[in-house]
Amino acid sequence: MMPESTSEIKVPRTIVLVGLMGAGKTCIGKRLAACLGTEFVDADAEIESAAGMSISEIFEVHGESGFRQGERRVIARLLRRPPHVMATGGGAFMNEKTRELIKRRAISVWLRADLDLLVRRTSRRSHRPLLRGRDHREVLGKLMEERHPVYAKADVVVDSADGPPEAMAEQVARAVMDYVRRSGIDGPEEVADDGCILPESDKEMTW
Ligand code: S3P
Repeated sequence: MMPESTSEIKVPRTIVLVGLMGAGKTCIGKRLAACLGTEFVDADAEIESAAGMSISEIFEVHGESGFRQGERRVIARLLRRPPHVMATGGGAFMNEKTRELIKRRAISVWLRADLDLLVRRTSRRSHRPLLRGRDHREVLGKLMEERHPVYAKADVVVDSADGPPEAMAEQVARAVMDYVRRSGIDGPEEVADDGCILPESDKEMTW
């Protein structure tokens, strides 16, 4: 039977939110963590604090591929922590190794949003290097074509819509609960090599 309240849910694994920029991963993630009584972690903020630079600066200094490598390592480290709610940057789940690790250690939730919503939400801020100075609709439309088939591999899909984020978070909590019940998953799988160690051959990055 479904518990009356989502605060009664015991989360067996970290819940990882994936989806395009503007889908609401951070906003919904914070509310979801509050409603489940767990910690909220923003992977991009953790990357920035590990690197001691903003995401834009990381793109400038290490390029997108350096950012992606660091992103993979930081997420692997976060997945070693006790179950919590994690928002990831839009490209994280596109990395095969990260996706595989998320599959084995977490429950992935794709917050699916339509193009109009993404354009509207991303137009409010200008901190995203992939969008800066570019036509958001064009970039996001292309990313949608490329990424949606991969995001569709997430364990749970929830449509992100305008409206109170608390209601969205509640919807996500219920969808996750339903998935946990159907799949019977419990704790995270043990992974011998989660790839979180910085290779010694890397002379440029320290994180
Ligand atoms: C990116 C999304 C960003 C951030 C980086 C790259 C992407 O995060 O990780 O700018 O590739 O989609 P948000 O999805 O939180 O905006």
